[in-house]
Amino acid sequence: MSDINFEGQRRFQVLGISGSASKNSYNTHLLNAIGKMLPSNVDFKLFEGLTSLPFYTPEIDTDQDRPAIAQTLRDAIRGADAVIIAAPEYNHSVTAVIKNAIDWASRPYGAHSLVRKPILPISASMSILGGVRGQIHLRDILHSTESNVVARPEVFVASAHTKFNEDHELVDQETINVLKLAVDSLVSHAGLQA
Ligand SMILES: Cc1cc2nc3c(=O)[nH]c(=O)nc-3n(C[C@H](O)[C@H](O)[C@H](O)COP(=O)(O)O)c2cc1C
Repeated sequence: MSDINFEGQRRFQVLGISGSASKNSYNTHLLNAIGKMLPSNVDFKLFEGLTSLPFYTPEIDTDQDRPAIAQTLRDAIRGADAVIIAAPEYNHSVTAVIKNAIDWASRPYGAHSLVRKPILPISASMSILGGVRGQIHLRDILHSTESNVVARPEVFVASAHTKFNEDHELVDQETINVLKLAVDSLVSHAGLQA
């Protein structure tokens, strides 16, 4: 098993974005579990407020009318050294919540916060497939934003309801191991060893 390897003096900022609107989301619990695994020189922040983003509309994406939460999202992504997106699969694809967030983050075209941003997409589902179809769509969408997506390991947390205790803590050792490998991969992908 690998140890997460954030070395050096610099502090690193990792942003977690959950693609679930549920208040009791396995994907959010997964991000919280990752936040607790990270070494002390990493500031992990879970983005709050995605569900208050209106549907992306070009006419309101102006300096005068842009919703504050959209600007907050863009700034949070821009300020992060790396992003982890944990998103469920809805009807064999991504949730509307995460697609809308990516649409907001992906403008202005060519100069937005996702360009070259190191991103680790993961998914949790109560099904035995772990949200694989949704995550593949998510990876495709991120590809269009020119973000720097971690290729492997791919993390699909299947039967998610069996992997957490009643305090929503991740207790499945295999999942913990693969998450550590995935974060390690994100770290080296992002060149974060200072
Ligand atoms: C509208 C809807 C569609 C869903 N479609 C799928 C699906 O296609 N594949 C799947 O594995 N689970 C599907 N599920 C189940 C979710 O993956 C499961 O509820 C999961 O826990 C949601 O993630 P969360 O706990 O982070 O909110 C669906 C759930 C909803 C509400």
